[in-house]
Amino acid sequence: MIVVRRLRLGAAYVLLLYLTLHFANHALGLISLDAMAAGRWWFLALWRSAPGTLALYGAITVHGILALWLLYDRRTLRMPAWEACQYALGLLLPALLVVHVVSTRIAWWRFGAEDSYPRIVLGLWMLSPEHGARQVLTLALAWLHAGIGVHYWLRFRPWYSRAAPWLFTVALLLPTLALLGFVAAGREVSELARTPGWTEAMLSATHAPGPTEAARLATIRRGFLDAYLIALVGVMIARGLTHLVARRRSIRIGYPNGRVVIAPGGFSILDASRLAGIPHASVCGGRGRCSTCRVRIVDGYQNLPAPSEAERRVLARVGAAPDVRLACQTHPVQEVSVEPLLAPSVAPSEAFGTDARQGREQELAVLFADLRGFTRMAENKLPYDVVFFLNRYFEAVGTAITRAGGVTNQFTGDGVMALFGIESGPALGSRQALAAARAMVEGVNALSAELATDLGSPLRIGIGIHTGPAVVGRMGWGESFYLTAVGDTVHVAARLEQATKDYAAELVVSEDVARHAAVDLSRFPAHDLTVRNRAGQIAVRVVERVASLPAVSLRT
Ligand code: FES
Repeated sequence: MIVVRRLRLGAAYVLLLYLTLHFANHALGLISLDAMAAGRWWFLALWRSAPGTLALYGAITVHGILALWLLYDRRTLRMPAWEACQYALGLLLPALLVVHVVSTRIAWWRFGAEDSYPRIVLGLWMLSPEHGARQVLTLALAWLHAGIGVHYWLRFRPWYSRAAPWLFTVALLLPTLALLGFVAAGREVSELARTPGWTEAMLSATHAPGPTEAARLATIRRGFLDAYLIALVGVMIARGLTHLVARRRSIRIGYPNGRVVIAPGGFSILDASRLAGIPHASVCGGRGRCSTCRVRIVDGYQNLPAPSEAERRVLARVGAAPDVRLACQTHPVQEVSVEPLLAPSVAPSEAFGTDARQGREQELAVLFADLRGFTRMAENKLPYDVVFFLNRYFEAVGTAITRAGGVTNQFTGDGVMALFGIESGPALGSRQALAAARAMVEGVNALSAELATDLGSPLRIGIGIHTGPAVVGRMGWGESFYLTAVGDTVHVAARLEQATKDYAAELVVSEDVARHAAVDLSRFPAHDLTVRNRAGQIAVRVVERVASLPAVSLRT
């Protein structure tokens, strides 16, 4: 499926490039017919060369065949409005474009008719303006089809929201300039046509098709249209037959509130939701690219086919729990019960948001850090100096945390809380936390050396790390939402950070961290700590100097 998607995307990019250059060539009409002709020389040098021809007609063929295949493969024709529009335009365009392609490229190829701008503009502007209007409409629809495709392809990219206004401006400007160029060329040709003998001379010089050639071109056009229509009807009949067979193998899919959908075999969970009219988020239109359709499999997980590599990658990217699947990629073969995880109204910007948005219990490493003696130091400084210093300190420790793969969660006073392993799990998270601790101490030491003249004594930092279960979720209100964790693990990590004062150590780390990270800390002193409001004790290792920690690998 990935290969199909890449092929389709590659073909779409070739066609988009062709259309863009075609429009740019038309826009030169705003300068003159001669400028258009000069532009056309370069245009043809590219697209009528052997590689250009192969790329263009290969792209048309691949794009067309894959579109028909996707139409056949689609379980239900219920789809969001934008997707329906994209499909409808895609199916309409071959029938519209064939007229122009046959009278230009095919006429040139079969009869040596030169499709120069004066001849084509004369035909579309003066001799049969209704064909001109249809051609303008065809190009506008092709551009709209391409624009929708580009928008829905790129909108998950982090940079897209910034680039979108610029891209939209270009998308609007280019066809407008092309249309104005065509109008200007039309006027210029009208002027030229007033000159007695100009039209005849131009038609003769360009070997314009005569009645016999025109009749043969019309036959080619009809042949193509018939073939296209037969292919389309064939696909629809094949769809119908496949669905008739599939209906015999129907499966039951349970939804929250006891709702049950009986879907034909082969349907994906998203297809079943659409079939039953159950609102279901599907920002990418069911192409396995956004993760917004994901569902928790409440019952029957073991009966599902294993996820494909592509689905696995998307699920890993959002840190999905083991019982979560993409509804658009999962085709149940037996009864299952599911629970959609995202609201149907989810926005594209929320695609790839982690499940942590809903709050989810998971194992992760939590790190607390605190600057020793900061309160005393701040008492002797101007408030502006304190702000300057704190920002430098937060930059040093924040950089260390994010570079190691963690998420800085809270900066309070001189304290920092960070989470590791939200998406990668507790093993890597624990190693990341240890690596971050080492880098944080190095960063603070470097800052201390840099500000030595301002600081009475070197900066010291105390760090506590614990790994265990916590509920991770986005919390807050209005604009102030942030990812955080709550629960016993957080509580314990904070207690370990406080214990660094008692032991005059840079790091106190629980045995759970060492176990998850598979790091041998046996050479560091072991202690059992009591944590307020918590039964039992926590086994910890006290690391006086973080530099003496063994190196850890951050590979997954
Ligand atoms: S709808 Fe986008 S991944 Fe399923």
